[in-house]
Amino acid sequence: MKFDEFGLERWLLREAEIDLGGGGVSKLALGDLVAGLDLNQLLKYGRTDGSDYLKGLVAEWYGVEPGQVLITSGTSEANLLVNLTLLERGDGYVTEVPMYEQTVGVARALGCRIGEFHLLEENRWRPDLEELKEAVSSGTRIVFLDNPQNPTGALLTETELRTICEIAGDAGAWVHCDNALRGSEMDGVPGLVPFPDWERSVVTGSVSKLGATSPRIGWVVGPEELVERCWVAKDYTTLGHSRLGEVLAGRVLGMRGALVERNLAYSRASLEILGKWIGDNPHLSWVEPRAGFTGFPRYDYDIGSVDFCEKLLDEEGVLLSPGAFFGVEGHLRICTGVPADALEKGLRRVDAFMGRLG
Ligand SMILES: Cc1ncc(COP(=O)(O)O)c(C=O)c1O
Repeated sequence: MKFDEFGLERWLLREAEIDLGGGGVSKLALGDLVAGLDLNQLLKYGRTDGSDYLKGLVAEWYGVEPGQVLITSGTSEANLLVNLTLLERGDGYVTEVPMYEQTVGVARALGCRIGEFHLLEENRWRPDLEELKEAVSSGTRIVFLDNPQNPTGALLTETELRTICEIAGDAGAWVHCDNALRGSEMDGVPGLVPFPDWERSVVTGSVSKLGATSPRIGWVVGPEELVERCWVAKDYTTLGHSRLGEVLAGRVLGMRGALVERNLAYSRASLEILGKWIGDNPHLSWVEPRAGFTGFPRYDYDIGSVDFCEKLLDEEGVLLSPGAFFGVEGHLRICTGVPADALEKGLRRVDAFMGRLG
């Protein structure tokens, strides 16, 4: 397997005075999670499929059985396991665009044929289902989507998700839904996922976007037989996720309701600031996100998004993420999971930069 460099993740390692490049919410501190922790517990392996306790918490959030849950090292390992389990060289893999490029990067490295269907900005980032129909064939093994969507913050409707599942189902393909942004929906209602309603579907997610990326804990949720097969693969990838991370993730999921409220307070304040800023600038436009921790405005300057962001970082010390890393040019991803003062300060500097673009 040969991997292409994961452009976004390398980009996000850049040092910046004001970092608005990420796609998550301000993180919790270790001290927020450790009260009353058993300090005598041994630093040993846990169960490689996850503790009953954690599987139970995840199962409860999804309304599924604990046997339909595998605990993993973040959504990242969950996505990897799904791909390693379901895909063979030469299989068709159909992904939405724009997208967070991890899963398609793995599919490409596995030697799959990549097809695409687009979310249409002119249609409020709704999926182009006609294009999906054309992209899917009998050789398609996985149709991949993000819901809630990164970077656009769009949410699928019930009809859209059903249609996607029907198109995939008619071709005998699986629907894989990356649900890493669960809990970030502005209306407080979890975005739709295909499992358990659709038999050939699988969902992946983690505690990262609840405010804790360091535990590196995520999950696969799907039919028991697929979960078992992912577990078999997991013995070869990481053997076990972090047992310490699992303890912390249990705490995060245990305070999920309060965290969702905390995190929405960041997004609500940021979306107001961002909406006004975009409204005041004739070079910018956007479709307001309905979930997630990012805005994804379009700009009309004659400069590529990587160039835009490189120059902005050099000249103003502000990190944004280029649309090119999500498969669409002429866009910037701006983090809304940050304190309002940081966002305002960053946007003032982006204004100064754009003033010099013309
Ligand atoms: C859509 C999506 N999937 C997966 C990930 C990976 O997250 P993690 O492995 O921390 O759960 C991210 C991280 O930004 C993401 O945005």
